[in-house]
Formats: sequence, C-alpha cells, structure tokens
Amino acid sequence: MKIKIAPSILSADFSCLSAELKKVQAAGADLIHVDVMDGHFVPNITIGPLVVKYISSATSLPLDVHLMIENPAKYFLEFVNAGSDMITVHIETVSLKELATIAKVLKKRKVKLGISLNPATPIAKIKKALPLVDFVLVMSVNPGFSGQVFIRGALSKIRQLRAIFKKDIAVDGGINNITAKQVKNAGANVLAAGSYIFGAKNTKQAIDSLR
Ligand code: DX5
Ligand code: ZN
Repeated sequence: MKIKIAPSILSADFSCLSAELKKVQAAGADLIHVDVMDGHFVPNITIGPLVVKYISSATSLPLDVHLMIENPAKYFLEFVNAGSDMITVHIETVSLKELATIAKVLKKRKVKLGISLNPATPIAKIKKALPLVDFVLVMSVNPGFSGQVFIRGALSKIRQLRAIFKKDIAVDGGINNITAKQVKNAGANVLAAGSYIFGAKNTKQAIDSLR
C-alpha cells in the first residue's frame, strides 16, 4: 500500500497559514490534516468550519478533517460544506445509529468517512463501525495537543486491525522518522504528523523520511 503523508496544521504557524499549506504541498504532502477541538471532548479549543473554509481555498490538497468534538452528528455537515474531503469522528462520541446516518450523508456528498479511537479504547469497540467507514484513524497520543510522545500500545492495535480491515489505516500522534517505520511495519499506510513536519528545517526531507 502506498504511504500517504498528512501534515497536521495544528503545528503550523497560523499567522501565515496559506504559506504553510503551500510549503507542505510543495514538499510532497498527500493530504492536509485539520484538527478540530471543542474544549469538551478534548481539553483544547482550535478551529471551526469558518477557518476550514479558508484552508480549503488555500490548498488543492484533500482536507482530512479530524473532529475531536462532542456530538459530531450535529456539526459534521458544516465541515462538509466548508470543503472537507474526509471527515473523521471518534467512536467515543457517536452511536452506531448516528454513524450510519453520517455515512449515508457523506456518501452522497462524496466525502470519505473515518472512525477514530483513543489510546484507551480497544479495537473491539469499533468492530461494528468498520463496515460503515472508509478508513480508521488510530490515535497514538491522547488527543488534544501536538508534540506529545507516541504511545506504543498503538502498534498492537494497528496489527490487530490490519488483520481484519483492508482499507486505509491512519495513525495520529507522535509520528517521527522512527515511529513511522514502526507503524508502517504494523500495517498502517496513512501518517498524520504535526511537530515532526512543521518543526523541521527541511520540510521535504522530513516528509521523505516519513515515507
Ligand atoms: C492530536 C492531534 C494530532 C496532532 C499531531 O490531538 O489529533 O493530529 O496535531 O501532532 P504531533 O505529530 O506533533 O503529535
Ligand atoms: Zn489529528
């Protein structure tokens, strides 16, 4: 499977976001990972649909929007209308019935659906959701902030998941040149990375080293 790199703009300089987006696009990024946080599901507050709309007008790369919010069933459509190409919701925040409704709407809008799970949530919890989604996003840090240390328990989860799930498996949190290799060997093929990419002196070198 081809490895896709998704720079997380949470680590970008928001005073020149457009330039930051162009920088990672020129360096070979495949997707732009956008972290939406509500101060309820996670202890941090970031951006909403308005900013996603401007991000979508500033890049031609697909927007991979990671909703770390309570009640995504209420808000996801606003993010679709803002230009999201992929929407990830957390299993901790939706019922299976809500997820089925979200999946139906996204299919009509040609937007991909991902399900994510926190480090403390076992794979068993997402099993019933798998037929409804296009990809899984395995969290390898507790969501809320970039720059945290990779939680190794994610590796066995990825292996467990790869045995039963043939579509894209993404990993998010603490990805660098060393952990990238480990998650790839475990079976992941999409890497979201914030501080490693935006903190690098040479962006292309950083992206190439992850790939
Ligand atoms: C964490 C976010 C991640 C984060 C990744 O809650 O979902 O996408 O920005 O940042 P790094 O790669 O620095 O761990
Ligand atoms: Zn994320």
